[in-house]
Amino acid sequence: MQQRILILHGPNLNLLGSREPDHYGAATLDDITAELERIAAARSAMLEHFQSNHEGQLVDRIQEAASRCAGVLINPAAYTHTSIAIRDAFSATRLPFVEVHLSNVHAREPFRHHSKLADLAIGQVVGFGPASYYLGLQGLIRYLSS
Ligand code: DQA
Repeated sequence: MQQRILILHGPNLNLLGSREPDHYGAATLDDITAELERIAAARSAMLEHFQSNHEGQLVDRIQEAASRCAGVLINPAAYTHTSIAIRDAFSATRLPFVEVHLSNVHAREPFRHHSKLADLAIGQVVGFGPASYYLGLQGLIRYLSS
């Protein structure tokens, strides 16, 4: 059966391409989405994409995904470090997820070193720029197929 996977992006990731390129590179969210679609198509997976600057909208989307998606690939952005609500949404739905970050959060300010989600995740990919998303999606698809 075809796997349906939700791709979630947190706050300020709509600005990729122009936002702090030293940390986040030149690729736009559309560029990343296009490559994720290529990876998914080669593996017969179906993707849904959602970006929001609002915590509650991300929570709503995780809850909605529980009835139709097999897993979630998420870059929670700043909510990584603060959001008990997003953590609780994953606990409540038991949706398997992979957490990704463009930058190496562990090499940045101390407040970025801790993730409120990582211990619930299947895995975390950080520091590879857009390739963090691509590796994360490949890992999630493998996990869901095993
Ligand atoms: C980020 C890292 C976070 O600390 C930051 O708040 C972001 C982007 C990343 O992809 O490197 O917005 O998640």
